[in-house]
Amino acid sequence: MPTAENKSGPILDVRDFSVSFNVYGKFSHVLDGIAFRVQRGERVGLVGESGCGKTTTLKAILRVLPGNAIVKGGEVLFDGQDVSGMSDAALSAMRRTGAGMIFQDPSSALNPVFSIESQFLTVLKYAAPGGASGKQLYAVATEALSSVMLPDPDRIMKSFPYQLSGGMKQRVCIAIAIAAGCRLLLADEPGTSLDVTIQDQILRLINRLVIDRGLSVLMVSHSLGVIRQSTSRVNIMYAGTVVESGATDDVFSDPKHPYTAALMECVPKLTGGSVARGIPGRVPDYTQPPKGCRFAPRCPWARDICNGQKPPHLEVSPGHHVSCHLVSEGIQ
Ligand SMILES: Nc1ncnc2c1ncn2[C@@H]1O[C@H](COP(=O)(O)OP(=O)(O)OP(=O)(O)O)[C@@H](O)[C@H]1O
Ligand SMILES: [Mg+2]
Repeated sequence: MPTAENKSGPILDVRDFSVSFNVYGKFSHVLDGIAFRVQRGERVGLVGESGCGKTTTLKAILRVLPGNAIVKGGEVLFDGQDVSGMSDAALSAMRRTGAGMIFQDPSSALNPVFSIESQFLTVLKYAAPGGASGKQLYAVATEALSSVMLPDPDRIMKSFPYQLSGGMKQRVCIAIAIAAGCRLLLADEPGTSLDVTIQDQILRLINRLVIDRGLSVLMVSHSLGVIRQSTSRVNIMYAGTVVESGATDDVFSDPKHPYTAALMECVPKLTGGSVARGIPGRVPDYTQPPKGCRFAPRCPWARDICNGQKPPHLEVSPGHHVSCHLVSEGIQ
């Protein structure tokens, strides 16, 4: 039973969503009211340093959070439907044909003891239960393998994962997602375990699929270069909060939040010059997160208000939002 596709409105709408983890009776408050949207056919980035909650966000979207996770508030709407209120049938339909996830390490996404054919056809049978014949599904699979530029799809189908390179495995994962009819691709650092040329090919492939198939993409990365190359809107995440969001060009050309500006400073320049300094300090302890702005303890411009109160979410120019007291007070 495919999810009913609602043609209007965003394909994904994450609203004021908060998640804590129960770690042996201590609560780790990781996601703190994150909010962002992905419109149909749009490529949206989620960028932030390690441990800021990117993968947790993706798991929340697919409702596959680990057992110790507690949703403290907010909602995730997929095609206008609240994921937390979905029936088992609707949820499984969303995971089958609505949203597909591709991982940083493609080896972990494929089962080493089954051939690609066996894994591919199992997914397709699940995606279209009782529908097409084995021959028709095989044709759908080989067509998808060709569309991700894999030569000799019949040979790929007969192969086991260990017989394929990392880049080929990542393409197989993407082919499986698109053949199953996925409309929203959740890409968690795709290709970062591969060399940069292969990673570049994977990103180009995803960009082409957006154009050819009208796919929507939520691209998660800690690399600003990847986000700049492959998204039209970006959300900058820090310690479980979205601190800045907007058109990728606007955010990159005129970063407003001190964290975004510091992240940009960390990118090594092709023109040479000094080595990037990094951002002093570390992501806070989520069991005792800062009361006000979560970036305040690392922010060189933090004032009393930053430590005491959560910053408002302000629109600084059309579509460009920032959560920062300095911006709201006209200081930054
Ligand atoms: N099951 C869990 N129990 C307790 N804490 C968890 C659990 N899963 C994740 N966390 C914590 O949530 C925080 C965010 O983790 P997450 O994996 O979402 O970060 P990330 O932004 O994807 O990082 P990376 O870039 O390294 O992949 C981390 O502090 C992590 O330790
Ligand atoms: Mg992660």
